[in-house]
Amino acid sequence: MSADRPGLHTVTRGRGLLFGGDYNPEQWPEHVWAEDAALMRAAGVNLVTVGVFSWGRLEPSPGERDFAWLDRVLDLMHDAGVAVDLATPTASPPPWMGHRWPETLPVDENGTTLYYGARNQWCPSSPVYREKSLEITTALAERYAGHPAVAMWHVGNEYGQVCYCDLTAANFRRWLQAKYHDISALNDAWGTTFWSQHYSGWDEIIPPRTAPYIVNPSQKLDWARFCSDALLAQFTAERDVLRAYSPGTPVTTNYMGFFKPVDYWSWAPEQDVISNDWYPDPTDPRFPVRAALTHDLMRSLAGGTPWMLMEQSTGAVNWRPHNLPKPAGQLRLESLQAVARGADGSCYFQWRQSSFGAERFHSSMVPLAGPDTAAHAEVREHGRELRKLKDVAGTAVSAQVALLHDWHSWWAAEERARPSDRLSVIEQLTDYYHPLWRRGVTADLARPSSALTPYRLVIAPDLFLLSETDAAALTEYVRNGGVLVVGPFSGVADPRGHLYTGRFPAPLREVLGVSGEAWRPVDQPVQCSWRDETGFNGPGFTARDWTETLRSDGADVIATFDDGGPAVTRHRFGAGIAWYVGTIPDAAALAELTERFLADAGVPGTDLPEGVEAVRRGDLLFLLNHGDGTASVAFEGDAVDVLTGAPLHNGATLAPRGVAILRQHAGTGTTAPATR
Ligand code: GAL
Repeated sequence: MSADRPGLHTVTRGRGLLFGGDYNPEQWPEHVWAEDAALMRAAGVNLVTVGVFSWGRLEPSPGERDFAWLDRVLDLMHDAGVAVDLATPTASPPPWMGHRWPETLPVDENGTTLYYGARNQWCPSSPVYREKSLEITTALAERYAGHPAVAMWHVGNEYGQVCYCDLTAANFRRWLQAKYHDISALNDAWGTTFWSQHYSGWDEIIPPRTAPYIVNPSQKLDWARFCSDALLAQFTAERDVLRAYSPGTPVTTNYMGFFKPVDYWSWAPEQDVISNDWYPDPTDPRFPVRAALTHDLMRSLAGGTPWMLMEQSTGAVNWRPHNLPKPAGQLRLESLQAVARGADGSCYFQWRQSSFGAERFHSSMVPLAGPDTAAHAEVREHGRELRKLKDVAGTAVSAQVALLHDWHSWWAAEERARPSDRLSVIEQLTDYYHPLWRRGVTADLARPSSALTPYRLVIAPDLFLLSETDAAALTEYVRNGGVLVVGPFSGVADPRGHLYTGRFPAPLREVLGVSGEAWRPVDQPVQCSWRDETGFNGPGFTARDWTETLRSDGADVIATFDDGGPAVTRHRFGAGIAWYVGTIPDAAALAELTERFLADAGVPGTDLPEGVEAVRRGDLLFLLNHGDGTASVAFEGDAVDVLTGAPLHNGATLAPRGVAILRQHAGTGTTAPATR
């Protein structure tokens, strides 16, 4: 994201919130297209993504081009007043590519080639793939730059390919040479004296292919970095072509939330628009919490500016073993949740359900049964509602709390052969996010190296890998008055993946005022006790999976393990406070601790009924009921529900899966709501 580049506002200008989906007209005879355009108009669709998987149709054989059909689609969309997010079709090369140039096909870590017949079968390091993908991108850009329908460019789809082939090996070596210059520096960084892994020359280096036993974790860490960079190079190559032909039109690619293989912090500055695909698992009881967390990540990647939900499903997906439809109201609830958290667009995969191919059982905006269906009626109704929220576009969501999440640390933390594989970075993040969500406290996501001074509270649930520089910045943050919370097994490794020596967490010992000598995973839950006079409820709590042998070096001990050793500590440091949690407390204890974190930071929480989410965007308060029952939310004074126009006094009642979006009257209690 760069201030001098066109952003999402160039797409929402004059349109308001974006509503639509992936449109794949090449799957249908042309007479259906006219009906599509009419239905889109009726549903308030104002943006469709076209061409994501059209390479085979645009270039049926190498060098042969057929764009006439796409000309007609773009003209039709323009005439219907529907803007187009035009995609480069490079996520799925046609069979001719793998057939003529087998080296473009990816190879897995076992040396198995992944063939065409599905999608995504390309190697990020293949020069032929790069050349052919840029040729088709150039042809599209030449032809459609300036087309009045094209409001945004969409590069590829859900980047995530990993390849272990020989071309990739050569590319990996080049990447390593640029990083280390000298093979001895690489040997040091990878600790190759261990198990006789010393490299005598660059040519010996290979990707971490399947090996007899545990592969060097520092090699794997660099490999993860390389893979993310190699994909980014493909994205930026296509993006640069589009920018050259179409400088005033923003470029995006769709992310996949907390997707491990791609470091979105390093990608975000390269994009004009942050967009995401979100397909929650309806059987996961925490999916609304994960949704909120993921949306907050997207807003944070966008630097606090609006982002867009590029894909979600109207109902069931088809790729889980057992695919549940969404109950009535769920589509609207999930969409408005994204809007509440900063999305300026809420789009779907896909417009019209396919009758053939691998996704023929995936729900769509227009189901196979046609427009005269409950499913399509819900889509149309939601489009109508989004039009009422036109003015929400461009407004901001602000946060006083940041959660730290770093891809490099995530990669390093979950390598094989660690004390316990029950410590999961994303679960830890979700565990610490959950009580904030319950209390209506909005949080941003940030990296340890981000500017943290705008935040009153910074929580690092799992920062296994932490550079001394970033640790020093966190220390300064607290010294200057910030409140920091650090979860277990943090500050353990340096950026090479080498463990810090001495008592842990070495680079954070000063600020935390606590240090440890041993990590002690446990099989059964353990009992922890609140120290007397700390004011916590009851005698103690249970914790699971993980304990540490800690010693206070100045911090107050808040809770102890059953051997009397510290489990949770709080350290006044400079003008701030630093907490350390050396275990995985049960949810109730973490909720209680979160109250203290918020109190220390002076960040108010809100009483909300179970399952109700509250978030402010601009001057609106979004109340979202994820529960199956009716919920009453109280607030002081008068408000109006901008969706219904209904005046509200001192409270709102939310139906199951209901949403209220309140504009509160100035001076009559703009305070947060409280449970009745
Ligand atoms: C996304 C993908 C779409 C479609 C969708 C189905 O991951 O980008 O093309 O496959 O999933 O849920």
